[in-house]
Formats: sequence, structure tokens, C-alpha cells
Amino acid sequence: MLQVQKQISVAIFASGTGSNAEALIRLSRLNTSYYKVVMVLTNKEQAGIYEVANRMHIPIEYLTDPKDSSRMGELLQKNNVQVIALAGYLRLLPADIVRHFDGRIINIHPSLLPEYGGRGMYGDTIHMAIYNDKKPYTGITVHYVDEYFDTGSGLCQSKISINECDTVEKIAEKVKKVEHEVYPLMLNQLCKIIYSQQ
Ligand code: GAR
Repeated sequence: MLQVQKQISVAIFASGTGSNAEALIRLSRLNTSYYKVVMVLTNKEQAGIYEVANRMHIPIEYLTDPKDSSRMGELLQKNNVQVIALAGYLRLLPADIVRHFDGRIINIHPSLLPEYGGRGMYGDTIHMAIYNDKKPYTGITVHYVDEYFDTGSGLCQSKISINECDTVEKIAEKVKKVEHEVYPLMLNQLCKIIYSQQ
């Protein structure tokens, strides 16, 4: 089996329960992983991501001001971060951070963008809108991050049938399951490319 010698250093940014962060950390511990999660950054003091980071022994830092790019930059530099993965992070990134990490920041979004994207469209808000619109399907998008909400170019999408889901919770559960499978693989793919270029 492949044993990756030196892994790409990844920071996860999260604001919520942290289930995607956990899936990313889990894959990083396989010996086929091209990345290592070196830190978690959060803008929410009470978020579930704290429990995930502590349980999985990943250092977590709280960003008092998510617009403060100098503190964010310092933390990223101190930990030699090469790639950023947003996992339920609900703030825009400062423009200079986006420029510095051009092509090395990705996000997961719980819809088939550009449908159900943009400011205010996140997590359960999206599942609720899809439920109210009586859509037979939903999906997920993994995309590069720019300075705006959900407009960076796409890396992959998965369409998910939700015909059988009669509640918002069932839609959310089905979508999360797919996110947890797809997002770690996409992050690993990106890190494999970066790894091969260094
Ligand atoms: C995930 O469904 C993720 O796709 C979504 O927030 C949820 C976070 O859940 N992100 C967005 O909506 C970004 N616009 P988690 O904290 O359990 O990973």
C-alpha cells in the first residue's frame, strides 16, 4: 500500500457541528493520505467543532475577527499551512488570504451550485428551501474559494435523489452522508496534485 512520506499541511475552517471536519481528519489518518490536518480555525466560540477538534487531537484557534487577515495569516504561517479546506465555515475570507492561497482553498456546499447558493444560503436553510420547492433531487458541490459566496470554480458535483425524503432532516442526513464521502477524496486529490508539484 502507498505510504505518503511528506503530507501537505491543511487548515480546516469551520463554524458548525464539524461533521465534515471530522471526515476530513479521518481520511488524513489513512496511509494513503496526501494531507495532514495541522489546525482548525473557527469563528464560533460555542461550535461543535471544538468537541471534534479536541477529540481528534487537532489544535483549534478561535478567530475573534474573521476579517482580520493579519491574525489569520499569522496563524496559517506559524503552522506552515499550504491548503485551506472550508467545512461549514460561514464567513467570507479576506481578499489577501484568498490571493495568497490562490487555487489552494476549497469549500463544500450542500447544493448543486449555482442553484441555492449565495449569501445566506447554507446548511439547513438550503435543505429547507429544497424541501419547500418539492425538488426530487439535491446535491453537493466542491469548489475553489474566491472572495465571494459560492462563486469560485467547481471541482466536482454529486446529484442526490431525495424522492423518498419526507422531512428536511432526512434530506440533510442524506446530503451529509455524501459530503463525508466526497469531500475528503476531493481534498486528497487536490493535495496529491500539489504534492506532485513540490
Ligand atoms: C455542511 O452541510 C456544509 O456543506 C455546509 O454547512 C454544513 C456544515 O456541517 N456549508 C455551507 O452551507 C457553505 N455555504 P458540518 O459542520 O456538520 O460539517
